[in-house]
Amino acid sequence: TTKYREQYQPSSYLIDRVDMLVELFESHAEIHSCLALRRNPLFTGAVEELRLDGEELELKSIAVNDQALPLSGYELQDAHLVIRQPAESFTLKTVVQIKPQDNTRLEGLYKSGSKFCTQCEAEGFRRITYFLDRPDVMSVYDVTIRADKNAYPALLGNGNPAGSGELPEGRHWARWHDPIPKPCYLFALVAGDFDLLEDSFTTMSGHPVALKIYVDKGKLDQCAHAMRSVKKAMQWDEEVYGREYDLDIYQIVAVSDFNMGAMENKGLNIFNTKYVLANEMTATDADYDGVEAVIAHEYFHNWTGNRVTCRDWFQLSLKEGLTVFRDQQFSMDMGSPTVKRLDDVRVIRTAQFSEDSGPMAHPIRPDSYVEMNNFYTVTVYNKGAEVIRMLHTLLGADGFRKGMDRYFERHDGQAVTCDDFVQAHADANQRDLEQFKRWYSQAGTPVINVSDHYDAANQRYTLTLKQHCPATPGQKEKQPFFIPFKIGLLDKAGNDLPLNWQSKDADDQAIYGREAVLPLQRAEQQFVFEHIGEKPLPSLLRDFSAPVKLRYDYSDEQLAFLLANDSSLFNRWDAAQQLVSRVMLNAAEQFRAGEEMRLPAIVTEALAAVLDNHQLDNALRARLLQLPDIGYLQELVEKIDIDALVAAQQFIKRRVAETLYQPLRDCFQRVRGATGLDGDSAGRRALANTCLGLLVDSTDAEAYQLAHAQLHEAKTMTDRFAALRALAHSAAPNRQQALDDFTHWYVDEALVMDKWFTVQATAPLASALQEVQKLEQHSAFDAKNPNKVRALWMAFSHANPAGFHRADGAGYQFIAERVARLNQSNPQLAARLVSAFNRWKRYDDDRQQLMLKELKALLTQSGLSPDVFEIVSKSVEA
Ligand code: ARG
Ligand code: ZN
Repeated sequence: TTKYREQYQPSSYLIDRVDMLVELFESHAEIHSCLALRRNPLFTGAVEELRLDGEELELKSIAVNDQALPLSGYELQDAHLVIRQPAESFTLKTVVQIKPQDNTRLEGLYKSGSKFCTQCEAEGFRRITYFLDRPDVMSVYDVTIRADKNAYPALLGNGNPAGSGELPEGRHWARWHDPIPKPCYLFALVAGDFDLLEDSFTTMSGHPVALKIYVDKGKLDQCAHAMRSVKKAMQWDEEVYGREYDLDIYQIVAVSDFNMGAMENKGLNIFNTKYVLANEMTATDADYDGVEAVIAHEYFHNWTGNRVTCRDWFQLSLKEGLTVFRDQQFSMDMGSPTVKRLDDVRVIRTAQFSEDSGPMAHPIRPDSYVEMNNFYTVTVYNKGAEVIRMLHTLLGADGFRKGMDRYFERHDGQAVTCDDFVQAHADANQRDLEQFKRWYSQAGTPVINVSDHYDAANQRYTLTLKQHCPATPGQKEKQPFFIPFKIGLLDKAGNDLPLNWQSKDADDQAIYGREAVLPLQRAEQQFVFEHIGEKPLPSLLRDFSAPVKLRYDYSDEQLAFLLANDSSLFNRWDAAQQLVSRVMLNAAEQFRAGEEMRLPAIVTEALAAVLDNHQLDNALRARLLQLPDIGYLQELVEKIDIDALVAAQQFIKRRVAETLYQPLRDCFQRVRGATGLDGDSAGRRALANTCLGLLVDSTDAEAYQLAHAQLHEAKTMTDRFAALRALAHSAAPNRQQALDDFTHWYVDEALVMDKWFTVQATAPLASALQEVQKLEQHSAFDAKNPNKVRALWMAFSHANPAGFHRADGAGYQFIAERVARLNQSNPQLAARLVSAFNRWKRYDDDRQQLMLKELKALLTQSGLSPDVFEIVSKSVEA
């Protein structure tokens, strides 16, 4: 059944206090809960009954105000416990039995290896006990956990420790008190035998906080980076937002079986091991960055998500968009801001634009859903963050901080809406943000067409901006967005011209400077610049100041000029992407027409200049040299001719590599071998490995040797894995040897083996599908483990376009069959996997038919989960 945002109603009851006793056994768990319920003063309707949520719970006893409730007093339904004629306020005690050991969905209380852990967001708490499982019901929790002491020495809960002790029969107990009211999706509990890394942090007001990171036995040497990251995040949130931690203890637990990245449970974050464990020989620089960013993300949720939470799940972006924005800002401050920014933009331009133009397109604040878990999307998260970033751009850093202060002041302790958030900013800055709110209600990617005119006689330059947004499911017509459009104008020497611009709209301030944020608010708008002494070259949408598609007719020469000169380093990268994408798309056209594919000299000259430009930092040079992948190119065309795109991309890569072989080799030799964990060393590794990848693309035997040597001699996982990747994605004669050596070294390191699976699943080789089928049989593969599913099946379906879209449909069949299996054990993950078919309409007729056939077959499956059903049915209907 579909839920609608418009149908929100306050809860008829509130739960002020929760007292729980959780008894953990090998065969089952028993949950005793005592809820202090009272009528919600905000609820106006009559109340005949109270419906509590509960799934897969076996009710053992039930009492109201300590009196056993007779059968006539309640009704047990499939997913609810209905209390008849409830009093104004009362306590409800229930005892239920559950089976964490059999919980393969990894929602609610489950076992990961030998440990008990939980995942309650969005609606998992109802799988633990009967409750009002909605985020606007906030309670103070006291929780006691009991379990065998030997097997589960650590018993962890939310909040602060409140006692522990021994019990008969080798059991023990621990009690936790969380003083801060929270919605039940932030509940967590862990029991297990861990290694523990401890540290402490003193907050700006002098409050000491104990920091604890719990990991699998033997992994203590992979925790230092996570601990450093926690402390950096805590300090940054104090400095930039004035936000301090509010409990005596902050705990992180890493588990191997987890449906997503991590979870911000109050005071007890539970993480996928992927975002905690890292040392030089197990994690790449990208992994290090991922750990730092996700640790920061979950920590930042303590204020944006936990202290101020969501009224209902339609408001998810309230906490996720905002917290992603905050973690992105944090990462920009910790490392290279340009590189971080362009990595984030790449996600929008590939995954988010793709979602926006497909059957699952939704606004960052969706209007309806069947299964909430399907809306933890790149739109809600990453486009949501772009919307916050636009607000930051429009208000300025100080104005944004004022708005945030107002937001916390007004809403601390509340469950609120996206509108409340924008309103706090509007009020704090005395700005009208009504039009801006359309970013929350309208789906789709706006397209901005830019044309310009230079009037030499009057030294006047005019930019004309037109915006339109294509229709999305359920939204035909769109109103114009409020788009902050950042620009600069380059003179012949490549310097930014002084801008003298006055908008005709009275309420916009004049801008004098060398960079301007044009406030585009209407469908079509002109911006006139005076005293412009020469015809300028516009540098448009600097820093990707809005999540839009930009159309402006640059010549190849102009793009090469921007790449060489733009004061906006971000736009240099953007120019490089545009230039190379265009050349690749042209080559794809040539391939289709049966013509010879060509690589214009201007591209290799521009890239050679990047290799030679020692002014630029190495990490950025690496990004400038990375050629767009198929995922990026796909979003630039109407109809996707996958064969032509693959052929063109391979041709251009190889031709670039051959043409620039010597300079690439020189650069590689110059910068390779850095071993430090600092940003400069990582930048050197990025550049060296980009060069190495291209060298191997040339198919030169010497390049294979270089990669082979690096694989064996590497002193970091970054270098080792880059060498493996280069070889595994090539036709090198020693390819299989490289893969075998790698497994031999790392067969016991689960996260490293994930990389090994992925590198093969994404190989652009005709044999990819057979390899994936073989890898399923490998002893390290486990279809019950989400990291393994992502490493093999998701990597193949989402990141191997040539393999998944094989003309014979074998890739589709293979994945559909895996979806059907996962649908039983882990529907949430199955829904992610099946999304690979979402864009079926964009491909050629034959492939459309093949994909549609698999989708339709899935629809007829019995026992289809709402998760998979929602994705597939929306795909088929589109
Ligand atoms: N709140 C978590 C985070 O972004 C993610 C939870 C995802 N939940 C889900 N059901 N997919 O930090
Ligand atoms: Zn989050």
